Amino acid sequence: MPATVIVGAQWGDEGKGKIVDLLARDSDLVCRYNGGPNAGHTIVVDGETYKLRQIPSGIVWGKECLIGAGCVVDPAVLIDEIDEYVTGRGLPEDCLHLSGNAHMIMPWHLLLDQASERRLGKLQIGTTRRGNGPAYADKAHRLGIRLQDIFDPKILRQKIETALAEKNLWLERIYGVEPVELEELAARYESYAQRLRPYLADTSLLVDRALRDGRRVLLEGGHGTLLDIDNGTYPFVTSSSTIAGGACTGIGIGPTRIDAVVGVAKAYVTRVGEGPFPTEIDGSDQARMRDLGGEFGTVTGRERRCGWLDLVALRYAVRLNGITSIALTKLDVLSFFDRLPVCIAYELRDGTRTDEFPEHQSDFHAARPVYETLEGWGAELDGGDDLPAAARRYVEFVEHQLGVEVSWVGTGAEREQVLVRG
Ligand code: GDP
Ligand code: IMO
Ligand code: MG
Repeated sequence: MPATVIVGAQWGDEGKGKIVDLLARDSDLVCRYNGGPNAGHTIVVDGETYKLRQIPSGIVWGKECLIGAGCVVDPAVLIDEIDEYVTGRGLPEDCLHLSGNAHMIMPWHLLLDQASERRLGKLQIGTTRRGNGPAYADKAHRLGIRLQDIFDPKILRQKIETALAEKNLWLERIYGVEPVELEELAARYESYAQRLRPYLADTSLLVDRALRDGRRVLLEGGHGTLLDIDNGTYPFVTSSSTIAGGACTGIGIGPTRIDAVVGVAKAYVTRVGEGPFPTEIDGSDQARMRDLGGEFGTVTGRERRCGWLDLVALRYAVRLNGITSIALTKLDVLSFFDRLPVCIAYELRDGTRTDEFPEHQSDFHAARPVYETLEGWGAELDGGDDLPAAARRYVEFVEHQLGVEVSWVGTGAEREQVLVRG
């Protein structure tokens, strides 16, 4: 498939990095279309772990990668990633391209993200505190500073000055924290320009040309469908368009260029941060699943909340993204459970039952999961070409309920631990 979107189908951390890595082997160009350093995509190859935050996961194979206009970039974090994963591994500079239209996360975005969460207290979102929300807010407010701005010191200084005039008021007067100093900041960002200049490119044009030349392009999403700013569980969402449609705006290509959409879903569900979660497990099985699945944030190290597979939410993800096939990851983690509840419908406040995701937030908050319990398989997955009968039934149940083929099943964290079906 010349242009394939890979999108998280739940609340993030579904194993997108691993699936992008799998498909990148036979691809030419891998592009990140949204989000920033709030993402953490993990790839494990021969016992070595790669944790990517902004650079697309295709870099592990040394593939040509790009960061599109829909992303926000923290230049300091990006330079560290380049040192570690591009130049540090002997890859050439033309392995990575950056859109000059991508907005930068500025130091005040980090301070505002942290201060605003502190101020919200019990009502906080539970953000990664990496400045994402404030950076996207400034983009919409037209007060943002883009990567292209750092290459003109005069423009850069002017934009920083304009932004600081407002941001320092907020920092000092509303949040009572130290203001940001102009001179040091302008000098620091000018120095980033030296490091980032070689990577700047017209990324929309690059992708268009690649597709015209018949090259295979992967479009990698950050986060997950239910964290989408427009369609997710607002306000407990991230601030970008995480869904497959976001790949078009975030890269700068038309929807007719997308050939396939791979939805990545865990065989169960996790969520980091606050917000409603109908299938969250009560009791000791939650901690057990967290330990078995290693469910701790890649970026923040926070405990991920764990729950049973939610097919109502996944059905919604199929609809929002136009998912053409599913990668069901971490099935191996379920090997240790005898009984596997799967949520097939929600019971709403008025007692009615629905298998569609509730449109109204209060219905979702109060939704009670209706479970069908499937049998466990009572043995660890051996990584062979076939699954135990009960594990196969679990996968087929998902396919049957969603009407979408599960084309890959994750059986372990390592690159090779995946079963390719049909
Ligand atoms: P992403 O943000 O969607 O790329 O996912 P993360 O990397 O944040 O979290 C997924 C975690 O599960 C990582 O530690 C992966 O190495 C691991 N992982 C991915 N697929 C599998 C799988 O099939 N089985 C197991 N046990 N671990 C997996
Ligand atoms: P990947 O790409 C899991 C969650 C945060 C928080 C909310 C808002 O690794 O799947 P933000 O910092 O974006 O303003 O936080 O979104 N969140 C993620 N959860 N995986 C992610 O990324 C996430 N990116 C953001 O925990 O609840
Ligand atoms: Mg992650």
